[in-house]
Amino acid sequence: MFSFFKSEQVSSKNQGRVIALMNQKGGVGKTTMAFNLAHAFLHQGKKVLCIDMDPQGNFSSLFDMPHDENRKNIHHLLINSVKELKALHTPTFINDVIFKSEEGIDLIPSGQELSGFELTVAGINGARQLILKKFIEKFELRSQYDVIIIDGPPTLGLLVVNILCAVDGVLYPFVPDRFSEQGLKNIQQVVQDIAEMEITSTPKNLGYIPNLFDTRRKQAATDLEQIKVTLGEATVHEAFTNKVQFGKSLAQRKSVFHFKSNEYKDLQRQFVAMTETVNKELHS
Ligand SMILES: Nc1ncnc2c1ncn2[C@@H]1O[C@H](COP(=O)(O)OP(=O)(O)O)[C@@H](O)[C@H]1O
Ligand SMILES: [Mg+2]
Repeated sequence: MFSFFKSEQVSSKNQGRVIALMNQKGGVGKTTMAFNLAHAFLHQGKKVLCIDMDPQGNFSSLFDMPHDENRKNIHHLLINSVKELKALHTPTFINDVIFKSEEGIDLIPSGQELSGFELTVAGINGARQLILKKFIEKFELRSQYDVIIIDGPPTLGLLVVNILCAVDGVLYPFVPDRFSEQGLKNIQQVVQDIAEMEITSTPKNLGYIPNLFDTRRKQAATDLEQIKVTLGEATVHEAFTNKVQFGKSLAQRKSVFHFKSNEYKDLQRQFVAMTETVNKELHS
């Protein structure tokens, strides 16, 4: 009886959530939001793991990793987790790949190799879409972290499908102009396709994040209102305007939470509000 309750307690406690920042367009703020959101969760006492799933590695470069040409990355871990690809396995250990930042965030970095992921797994018989999901399960990452944040690539291929199949929820940063709507529709179509495949549960929509909202452009507010109508029921987070503080902080590889001065307070508040909404959506 006692042990039953005990194991119940552990399993409900150790159920970290996995979220991703996605948009097939580049330059919309996926990496910026992922990095700052990770630090917002950290400041709330959460144990955070970041996974960089963009072959360009911008997310990884925001962490102060010492340069090491031989450093292995998420690609090696993913390939090693596919039995059928035994011939391509490398001696890679997850603890050697995980980088621990000074602030206390863990990162599984990306690397150029990841751009060949789609081709590398093209011939396998197993579910190509579930490689990341199974990797997270195999290493029991949900029991080691409260939040796992994945930064997505600006594409719509197999990497994106793997991310969407592995996560509990997705945040969609976008620049609210006339061209943003199609991009958001395209990724929703991929989510829809995954739902129809019935191979895994469908990720929740944790909301859209209007970014680089241009308050000086007269048409901007109208554009955003029109886009909001097309987004329907989903949450739309408070818009981020063009903020020099992002450039300044990222140049130092710091989040907005690193700074005490008043000019960062508003951005800190916005990210804290976002974590609260995300927590609510994930647990509803
Ligand atoms: N609200 C913002 N204000 C100012 N600069 C921003 C803002 N959002 C993003 N940026 C900058 O724009 C560039 C692209 O953002 P990034 O997060 O890398 O986009 P993505 O990951 O979608 O390609 C980065 O240099 C980033 O610092
Ligand atoms: Mg990026």
